[in-house]
Amino acid sequence: GPAKAWSGRFSEPVSDLVKRYTASVFFDNRMAAQDIRGSLAHATMLARQGIIGASDLADIERGMAQIVGEIERGEFNWNLDDEDVHLNIEKRLTALVGDAGKRLHTGRSRNDQVATDIRLWLRDAIDTILGLIREFQLAVLDLAEHHADTPLPGFTHLQVAQPVTFGHHLMAYFEMTRRDAERFADCRKRVNRLPLGSAALAGTTFPIDREYVAELLGFEEVCFNSLDAVSDRDFAIEFCAAVSLLMTHLSRLSEELILWMSPRVGFIDLADRFCTGSSIMPQKKNPDVPELVRGKTGRANGNLVSLLTLMKGQPLAYNKDNQEDKEPLFDSADTAIDTLRIYADMMGSRVEANGEKVFNVRVKKEAMQAALTQGFATATDLADYLVKKGLPFRDAHEAVALAVRVADAKGCDLPQIPLDELKTAMAHVAGAVERLDADVFQVLTVEGSLASRDHIGGTAPKQVRAAIARARSRLA
Ligand code: ARG
Repeated sequence: GPAKAWSGRFSEPVSDLVKRYTASVFFDNRMAAQDIRGSLAHATMLARQGIIGASDLADIERGMAQIVGEIERGEFNWNLDDEDVHLNIEKRLTALVGDAGKRLHTGRSRNDQVATDIRLWLRDAIDTILGLIREFQLAVLDLAEHHADTPLPGFTHLQVAQPVTFGHHLMAYFEMTRRDAERFADCRKRVNRLPLGSAALAGTTFPIDREYVAELLGFEEVCFNSLDAVSDRDFAIEFCAAVSLLMTHLSRLSEELILWMSPRVGFIDLADRFCTGSSIMPQKKNPDVPELVRGKTGRANGNLVSLLTLMKGQPLAYNKDNQEDKEPLFDSADTAIDTLRIYADMMGSRVEANGEKVFNVRVKKEAMQAALTQGFATATDLADYLVKKGLPFRDAHEAVALAVRVADAKGCDLPQIPLDELKTAMAHVAGAVERLDADVFQVLTVEGSLASRDHIGGTAPKQVRAAIARARSRLA
C-alpha cells in the first residue's frame, strides 16, 4: 500500500486492525477547518522568518484553498491509511503543490498541531454555547415575566413549603445558567493560548516567531512550556466540567417539567412538538425531550470522567492516549449545543395570527392555585405574624404546628379555621392567643404571603420583576 508519513524506519506495515485501531481520521476530520487555518498561520510565519520561500507560501495557500473547496463539496477523500486529519490534509497538499507541501511541517509536530486544532475548535464551540445560553435565558426571561405573579407552591423534600411565583421559580434557572456562562467564558481564557511552536515536545531549532502565529490565530498568548503545551488537556476537562454543570442544571429543570406535566401534578402542558407518543397506548403524550436531556446528562458526566481518567497516568509529554480526548470532548460540545438549542425553543413562544403570544410551556394556573390549598403553604407566614406581635419565634413555631394539626384533622387549610378555633388550638402556648386578631387572615392569603417577601432575592412579584429587569440589562 502507500507509504505512511513515518514509515521509513519500519520493515513491515501495520496490520489492518492496528491501522483501524490507531487511526483517528474519521472523527478528527471535524477539525479540518481549524487544521488548515493553523497550517496557514504556521506557513505565513515560516515565510516571514525566511524559513520557507515566498513561493512556497503561495503554493501552500493555493493548495489549501483547493482543499477547503474539496472538503466543502464533500469531494475530499479521507483515507484511513493516512491516520488522522493532519496527515490526510498534508498528503493532499503535497499531491497538489509538490515540495512546498513537504516543507509545511518544518519546525512543527503533529503534537503541537493537534493541540492547536483542538483549542481553535473548542474556542468556536464555547462561543456557540455562550450565544445559545443567552438565547435560552432570553426565553426564560420572557416566560418568567409573563408569570411574575403566578403563584404555585414552592417545595422542599417535594412537600409543599411556601408559596412562590412561577416567575421566581424560573429565575432560579436564569441564575444557574448565568454562572454556567461565566464558567464557559472563564474556561475560554485558558483554551485561548497557543501550543504551536512547541513542536514534538522540546521546541524547535528554527527561528520561529510564536507571538506572530498567536496573533494570526487570535490567541491571547502562547503556552510558555513546550512539554506542557503538547501534553496537557486540562482545558478540555474544564470545558467538559462546565458542560456537566450546565447539563445538571438543565436536567433539574427537565425533571421539574416532567413532574409538572404528570397528570398527578398537572401544572403545565408542553407543546406537542417536544413530546412523542406511544406505539401501543394511543392516549400517550410523553415528555421525551426533557427526559432525554436528563438522560444525556449522564453521558456528559461520562465524558468528563473519561478525560480525567485519560490524563491521570500520563508521563510527560505527549502520549497517543491523548488521541482519545476528541470523541468525549466533541460529544460533550454536541450534547450541550443540541440541548441548548432545543431548550431555547422549548422555553420560547410564538405569536398567533390574532396577536396572542403562546408559550410552549403552557401554565395551568388553576392547578397551581389548587395545589397551594393543600399542605398549609402559609404556615410560616402565620408564625411570622405572631413573631411580629412579640412572640419568640420558637413559641410561634410551636403554636402554628398545633394549628396545623387542627386543620389537618378538619381536612381544611389554615385560612379556613375560624379565629376562635385557631385560638383554642394555640391555647397551650403561652402568649400566643392574645396576639391573634382578625387581621391574621390577611397574612394567610397566598397574595399576602408572596408580597411580603419583598427584598432582593425574594419571591414578591415586585422583586421578581426587578430581577427580570436586572437580568435583561445584563444580557443587553
Ligand atoms: N492524531 C493524533 C492525536 O489526535 C495527532 C498527534 C499524533 N502524534 C503522534 N506523535 N503520534 O493526538
